[in-house]
Amino acid sequence: SSSGNGSANFRRKPVIIIVVGMAGSGKTTLLHRLVCHTHLKNIRGYVVNLDPAVMTLPYAANIDVRDTVKYKEVMKQFNLGPNGGILTSLNLFATKFDEVISVIERRADQLDYVLVDTPGQIEIFTWSASGAIITEAFASTFPTVVTYVVDTPRSEDPTTFMSNMLYACSILYKTRLPLILTFNKVDVAAHQFALEWMEDFEVFQAAASSDRSYSSSLTQSLSLVLDEFYNNLKSVGVSAVSGAGIDAFFKAVEASAEEYMENY
Ligand code: GTP
Repeated sequence: SSSGNGSANFRRKPVIIIVVGMAGSGKTTLLHRLVCHTHLKNIRGYVVNLDPAVMTLPYAANIDVRDTVKYKEVMKQFNLGPNGGILTSLNLFATKFDEVISVIERRADQLDYVLVDTPGQIEIFTWSASGAIITEAFASTFPTVVTYVVDTPRSEDPTTFMSNMLYACSILYKTRLPLILTFNKVDVAAHQFALEWMEDFEVFQAAASSDRSYSSSLTQSLSLVLDEFYNNLKSVGVSAVSGAGIDAFFKAVEASAEEYMENY
């Protein structure tokens, strides 16, 4: 809808939503859900696929790295394994990324959101030069937000939860962009526990203390570090499968885009 809550400024441009997450967190399913949602609600969306190695996508990408770079050819040509092939393909694509930005700029008036899918192996995007170049190219041209997709049922264990949050934290500090934690698969496990742990680190510490493999002093220090991190982000619970929480997701995107406009 174009209810226009005084944010005409960033409304002139699309908001870029970069979707990252561990393999299996449900990025592709979520992207598909977000694309369906934009069609349903008459939101003008555009989709960029940055995964050179994905075989089939459940949605139609407007810009697809696979149209420009043939990952299997790159593997052969440079004598690389699968991960080196994906990384090199992304590097090759990054050198032409100004063209992608131009294409989006030309359509800016007709777009509300640009959804960006990233490679299944998260570190290929978050810890590579090309990932940084691509993120920077977006963020210097459009309001840009990052969403980190969390596999909620697989994060119910405090140890796993903390590792996951530390990873999310590294993404926040690397990109310095507004970050939304998207707790996916709430149809399987509600994300209430996560909200409680993020709200009060003592609740998290109590949960973690039942885990003997944990060094309690490390847990204590890390949960204090994370407490600061939690203050700097938004979190939503969604189900990519059922569609629960998708409206809340877009609200968080709007709020994050405003944050971008104020701070970047
Ligand atoms: P890529 O690695 O980029 O292909 O995506 P991904 O591995 O992050 O996730 P994908 O979308 O392939 O989903 C992984 C598995 O989780 C699939 O079996 C999905 O059906 C399942 N899944 C994804 N979202 C949900 C959800 O909201 N609820 C449930 N129950 N399952 C989900």
